[in-house]
Amino acid sequence: MDLPTEKMIGKKIGGVGHMIFNQPEKRNATSLEMWQAAKIILDDFAADPNIRCLVLSGAGDKSFVAGADISQFEKSRSDANAAAEYERISAEGKQALNDFSKPIIAKIQGFCLGGGLVVAMAADFRICSDDSQLGVPAARLSIAYSYDAIRRLCSLVGPSYAKDILITARRIQANEALRIGLVNRVVTAADLDMAVAEYTDAIEENAPLSMHASKLTVTEILKDSKDRDMAAIDEIGRICFDSNDFKEGRTAFMEKRKPVFTGT
Ligand code: COA
Repeated sequence: MDLPTEKMIGKKIGGVGHMIFNQPEKRNATSLEMWQAAKIILDDFAADPNIRCLVLSGAGDKSFVAGADISQFEKSRSDANAAAEYERISAEGKQALNDFSKPIIAKIQGFCLGGGLVVAMAADFRICSDDSQLGVPAARLSIAYSYDAIRRLCSLVGPSYAKDILITARRIQANEALRIGLVNRVVTAADLDMAVAEYTDAIEENAPLSMHASKLTVTEILKDSKDRDMAAIDEIGRICFDSNDFKEGRTAFMEKRKPVFTGT
């Protein structure tokens, strides 16, 4: 892959695509060129049938992603117009993440703040080490967190904790994050890779179309009812029943063996 920056890494290990935010000296704060690279990486993973899921992580052991790179704000987000232009350029990468149809796991160690939490919330599961801290410092910068980000936060923790997190801008420790539903699992830093591998191993064995159907349906449920694409839900249901993998699934069950799914 030819990427515009080394601050974003894409690598494939078996059936797992890894995208790593790689600016550890700035706690993996995100910049425009990182989002441009993300688009290239995610398009490649999406088109590769051997890639069954995506793991997002930050380089080093101090931080997942500490939000957008504040040192670029003066130049690229100094007012509403400049911020809109920044959003336009970074939008393709962010959209590619939101549209990614295969399961996504956020492997969180250390700081997961602001835009970093938006990245983590774009994942289907968040697994974090017990030394992680999550939060939204927007109130400390006089930034309004976006509609989509707040909607996602509300869908995970409910409106009361969403306001608590946003208005106090306090950092949530891993165990509180687990209790309020912001993350799915908390493990020690030493066990983090193993915990993520449990998820990726299960995903690599499961039927891709069925997982896609679940992800799509939950996404539609979370939309306003007027925007909900019920036709897409019906269609993926039909595709699953007509798939080779459905035949393989029931045959393997009857033959008392593990199914081998191809995503067709
Ligand atoms: N943008 C730009 N630089 C960042 C950054 C960000 N979001 N987060 C961290 N950095 C930089 C720091 O400026 C510092 O750079 P320096 O070594 O040149 O001084 C370096 O990363 C290390 O950060 P530091 O604050 O010294 O480390 P820490 O471990 O004490 O604290 C954080 C880490 C993440 C808690 C703290 O840096 C922080 O609060 N960052 C801002 C988070 C934020 O507001 N994000 C939302 C942006 S919209």
